[in-house]
Amino acid sequence: MKHLVRLVTALFAVGAILVIAVAGIGVYAWNNTVIDTTGKTVFDRPLAIPPLAASTFDEDGTRVFDLTMRQGTSDLGHGPGTRTWGIDGDHLGPTLRADRGERVRVNVTNRLGETSTLHWHGMHLPAVMDGGPHQRIEPDETWSPHWTIDQPAASLWYHPHLHGSTAEHVYRGLAGMFLIDDPDSAALPHEYGVDDIPLIVQDKKFDGDQLDTDGAMFTDVGVLGDEILVNGTPGPYLEVTGERTRLRLLNGSNARIYNFSFSTGLSFDLVGTDGGLLERPVTTRSVQLSPGERAEIVVAIPAGTDTVLRSTSPDLRADFWQTRFAGGDDRLDILELRAADTLTPSPPVPDRLTTFVDPGEPTNTRTFDLTSTRTINNREMDMERIDEVVVAGTTELWEVRNASGSVHNFHVHDVQFRVLSMTGLPDGHPSLAGRKDTVYVPPGATARLLLRFDDLPDDEPVDTSVPYMYHCHLLRHEDNGMMGQFTVVGPDETTLSGGSATAPGRGGHTHGG
Ligand code: C2O
Ligand code: CU
Ligand code: CU
Repeated sequence: MKHLVRLVTALFAVGAILVIAVAGIGVYAWNNTVIDTTGKTVFDRPLAIPPLAASTFDEDGTRVFDLTMRQGTSDLGHGPGTRTWGIDGDHLGPTLRADRGERVRVNVTNRLGETSTLHWHGMHLPAVMDGGPHQRIEPDETWSPHWTIDQPAASLWYHPHLHGSTAEHVYRGLAGMFLIDDPDSAALPHEYGVDDIPLIVQDKKFDGDQLDTDGAMFTDVGVLGDEILVNGTPGPYLEVTGERTRLRLLNGSNARIYNFSFSTGLSFDLVGTDGGLLERPVTTRSVQLSPGERAEIVVAIPAGTDTVLRSTSPDLRADFWQTRFAGGDDRLDILELRAADTLTPSPPVPDRLTTFVDPGEPTNTRTFDLTSTRTINNREMDMERIDEVVVAGTTELWEVRNASGSVHNFHVHDVQFRVLSMTGLPDGHPSLAGRKDTVYVPPGATARLLLRFDDLPDDEPVDTSVPYMYHCHLLRHEDNGMMGQFTVVGPDETTLSGGSATAPGRGGHTHGG
C-alpha cells in the first residue's frame, strides 16, 4: 500500500513536471516568436536596384530577353559566403520591361543543376507559356516562351513554380520584376532607379551564414524570417532626389504578410495594385500585402528629412494564436529613405489614372473552399487532374471561402480580377479598389471575385488542354497541394474531358544547351 501511494505520488510529480515543461516551452515560443526590429535596424547599405534586363529585337519585331538561372554566393549581411540562387547573377534577377502591345520572347536557360520553371505572375498569356508546374526546364535546357503583352501597365513579377519546390526556389533567391508600360503609367514618376523604384521585400532567417529554410516550431505558414532584405540588400537606405517617388512594392516573401507605413506618419497615394493602376489614387497611411501581392505608391518625402518604410503588425483578422504564429504581431523596419535638401520637382499625381474596362455580368459561379487540410475543395493538387474548365471570353464569379482557422491567400493565373466583396471589409475599402491577381482571405472570410477570362490575341498559339493554376500563395501551402488547375477553352469544348491534362505542353521551344 505504502509503495502504491509513493508510486502514484511520483507519477503525479512527473506529470506535473511535464505539464509545466510543455507550458514553459509554449510560453517561451510565444514570447520568442514575436519579432520587433523597428528602431533597431542599422541602415548602412545603399539599396540595390535590380538592373534592367537587356533585350534585342527579332526580324519580326519581337523583343527578346535572355535569362540564365544559376547558383552562386551573396553577401546578405552574414559575410560573402551565403549560398543563393539568382537569374543572370548570384541572387534575384533583373527587371524585365516591355510596352503594352509588344511581342516578347524570353529564353530561359537553367544552369541550376536541377529542374525548375519560371512563371510570369500576373501575366495574361497562353497557359503553355505561363511557366507553371507543367513547363519544366530541365538542367542545361533553354525554354523560350513568347507572347503578346495585352494588358495595362503593371508591376508583375516572375519566380519558379516547380510543384513541391516553389518555396525553396523562391527563398533561395529566384525572383524578379516584370514591368509593363503604357501611356497612363508614364504620367507618374517613371525614371527607373531614380524616382521609380522597385522594392522586392523578402524576409530571411539565417543559420550561421546560410539561409535557414525551416519554419518555426508552432507556425504552419512556413518560414518567417527575422531579417528583411529589399532587392537583396540588408539594412538598405535610398537617397531620394525627387519631390515625389514611386515605390513598386512587391511582397516576394514565402509566408510573411506586411502592413507598410512610414515611421514619420507620412500619407501617400496608393496608385496601383497587382494588375496595374487604380482609376483614382487613394490617399492613405498604410497598405497591407500578402505574399505575391504588389502595390504602387507615390510618396512625397519632405526635403532634408528621413523616414523609414516599416511594417507594423498586419491585421490578419485571425485568432490570437494564429496571429502570433503567422507573424501578425511582428514589426519590422524595411528601408530608410533619405531626402536631399533640394529635390527635383515632379508633377502632381493625376486625379484620374486610368479607366477600367467593364468586365460585364458573370455567367457562371464557382466556389473554392480553402480547408484546414491544406486543400482546395477538399482536393489536393494533382498535376493530372483539371479541376475547372472556363470558357474564353466570359466573366465568372468565384467565391473563395477560407474554411480553416489559418492564414491563406488566393492567386489566380492568367487574369486580373476585381474583388467585389470581402467579409469584414466595408464596400469601397481601398484594398478592394484595384485589379488584382492575389488576395488575402482571412480565416472564416469569403472573398467574392469577378474574373474576366479575356481571349488571347489572335497570333498566340492556344493549346486549350494546358492548365493554368489557382492556389494559396503562402508557398509552403502551395507546395503541400493547396492548388488546383483550370483550363480556358473555346465555347465548343466546355466539358471536362478525361485525360486532357495527360500531355501538358511545355510551350516555346526547348532544347539542350
Ligand atoms: Cu506567383 Cu502561381 O504564382
Ligand atoms: Cu502566378
Ligand atoms: Cu495557405
